[in-house]
Amino acid sequence: MKILAIETSFDETSAAIVENTKEEVNLISQSTATSMALHGSTGGVIPEVAAREQIKYIIPVISDALKKAKISFDTHTPPGIDAIAVTYGPGLIGSLLVGVETVKTLSYLWNKPLIPVNHLFGHIYANWLRDSGDELWKVPSFPAIALIVSGAHTDLLLMKSHADITWLGGTRDDAAGEAFDKTGRLLHLPYPAGPKIEELAKDGNPNAFHFPRPLMYDKAYDFSFSGLKTAVLREVQKIQNINGQIVKDLSRGVQDAITDVLVSKTLKAAEEFGVQSVILSGGVAANETLRTAFQEMLDTKYQILHTKLFAPTKSLCTDNAAMIGAAAFFRDQQVHWDNVTANPELYFD
Ligand code: KG4
Ligand code: ZN
Repeated sequence: MKILAIETSFDETSAAIVENTKEEVNLISQSTATSMALHGSTGGVIPEVAAREQIKYIIPVISDALKKAKISFDTHTPPGIDAIAVTYGPGLIGSLLVGVETVKTLSYLWNKPLIPVNHLFGHIYANWLRDSGDELWKVPSFPAIALIVSGAHTDLLLMKSHADITWLGGTRDDAAGEAFDKTGRLLHLPYPAGPKIEELAKDGNPNAFHFPRPLMYDKAYDFSFSGLKTAVLREVQKIQNINGQIVKDLSRGVQDAITDVLVSKTLKAAEEFGVQSVILSGGVAANETLRTAFQEMLDTKYQILHTKLFAPTKSLCTDNAAMIGAAAFFRDQQVHWDNVTANPELYFD
């Protein structure tokens, strides 16, 4: 089965063609536009601006993804696809509406079913996407612990199968990506700050700053990152002259604190539930230091678990349409276009 998938929940406009085999999903083509650069000057996304950019990009990315897959784009003739998948939430309502209303029109014109997809499950299912010819590449096996770490979410889930998924906990305040971005704002780094903080932290002194690890030893699988930005702010206020090295040291301190909490709580859950796979997903999962820390901890402290670590190709960690197509195959039902409504507050059903 071939799916045209669309993602427009935030500041990326993305379309992809994906095809499933029994266990995995092949990425045939993808086209993504982003309004991220526009938000740099304001230090964060202004919803109205993001939605207007979505309108500009939606038809070009659909046409480009179909063209790359050698499928013709004609509103009168149904293309060679079986269904259309779309993110219906969570996200910014203006941005979501652009994707949802566009696919409803295409579904009506082409008489193709729609598959509404929860963006959060999309992030997890990026781990089922094959985008290379690597013969050793595998999909995660169950049971699995999945961590979603993005700009808006930090969630931990237990997956016993595609149909049996339990939410274990999430952030009580800021998301992990938000902690990177808000720290970046304090340090006058460009938005989104995660990749820049990762780069700067490489030359940072790990002993210069020690920031709190909130809820690290708490029994519940909840997270809290808002205290971290306050701790950074206090340090910044104390320093008279913030030079380049101090910014690197602060970056290292923040990244280490976030990494410690994420690794510790996720692997504690992996141990408790005796899982075969630990799955990382979301924009923050592109962080190489975080990926390495997870692998090192699994290889040393948790080696008896025989648990394998999974993380998507870095470009598939941040928002993209292919992951929405992948989730559609495993999790969601085909519906008539009339039954799809954008839901900005959608969480886990
Ligand atoms: O998943 P995503 O594209 O959007 C949401 O669904 O929120 O995640 C974006 C977030 C931003 O907060 C960004 O700073 C963070 O992911 N991010 C990173 C890295 N790359 C992106 N954080 C740390 N290290 C990175 N390399
Ligand atoms: Zn996302």
